[in-house]
Amino acid sequence: MTEAPDGFTHVHSGKVRDLYRTPDGRLVMVASDRISAFDYVLDTTIPDKGRILTAMSVWWFAQLEGLVPNHLASVDDPMIPPQWRGRAMVCSALKMIPVEAVARGYLTGSGLLDYRATGEVCGVVLPAGLVDGDQLPEPIFTPASKAELGAHDENVSYDAVVSAVGAETAEQLRNLTLGIYVFAAALAASRGIILADTKFEFGREPGSGRLVLGDEVLTPDSSRFWPADAWTPGQPQPSFDKQYVRNWLLSEESGWDRAAGAPPPPLPEDVVTATRERYVEAYERLTGLSFADWPG
Ligand SMILES: Nc1ncnc2c1ncn2[C@@H]1O[C@H](COP(=O)(O)OP(=O)(O)O)[C@@H](O)[C@H]1O
Ligand SMILES: [Mg+2]
Repeated sequence: MTEAPDGFTHVHSGKVRDLYRTPDGRLVMVASDRISAFDYVLDTTIPDKGRILTAMSVWWFAQLEGLVPNHLASVDDPMIPPQWRGRAMVCSALKMIPVEAVARGYLTGSGLLDYRATGEVCGVVLPAGLVDGDQLPEPIFTPASKAELGAHDENVSYDAVVSAVGAETAEQLRNLTLGIYVFAAALAASRGIILADTKFEFGREPGSGRLVLGDEVLTPDSSRFWPADAWTPGQPQPSFDKQYVRNWLLSEESGWDRAAGAPPPPLPEDVVTATRERYVEAYERLTGLSFADWPG
């Protein structure tokens, strides 16, 4: 986290992003170059990662404009200090709905674990015999409760969401989440990327009370992006962005004693470079834009 510039107040820091209140009472979300893997925030940063993910979020917000209003106000507001250029989104402050709104089109991660234990994910009964990475018969809404820093979000049933936020809001969340996922997955698929699953956060706009899409959207940090040409159900899928990091950390070369609970070692330069290139490639493939044109 960088020191809050004059007039900004630090509100919150997550694993990789920091949230500040702006001098005029809005919020600014600042994406750092921190990267996490195997639930650790690594000591090594990936140059430009925060700017690339911000660029991606901003692009998606624009693509989604016909589907859902969003909280983004500006990425080039003159109040944004130079060190945050390109990695900061000035946003209107929402009253956040305390639900991680997850859509899954493919089975993996915590969804796979739940399925193996119960045949269901978040109360949604799935066909027998599915394996890691399988496409689901149709995308499903698999909400999770918001966990404190470091803890895992917990998958919850649709009924639990109804109890927490009411039937009407729950239904709006489900419909919006699935609608956005279907739209985004089709767009990503046309660029050779499988959007396996994704997480949104919604909030209500003070005053109007309308539901607005908040947070970051459809980045590799909030979603699973898989290269479509390598998709092979029955095993963990290569991740579009973090595969080099994971492979290296699990290789003998890293010397990481994961089983002993040791923190991961710093990444070597070539892994950092290759990972940065993967993020740039994801952005450019998806959007057709050049990252060199992004501010910062
Ligand atoms: N427009 C918004 N208004 C208020 N809070 C927001 C808005 N957009 C995102 N948030 C909140 O900002 C925080 C971002 O935190 P994040 O970096 O994701 O860390 P974590 O989720 O691990 O706490 C989340 O609590 C999210 O709900
Ligand atoms: Mg979050």
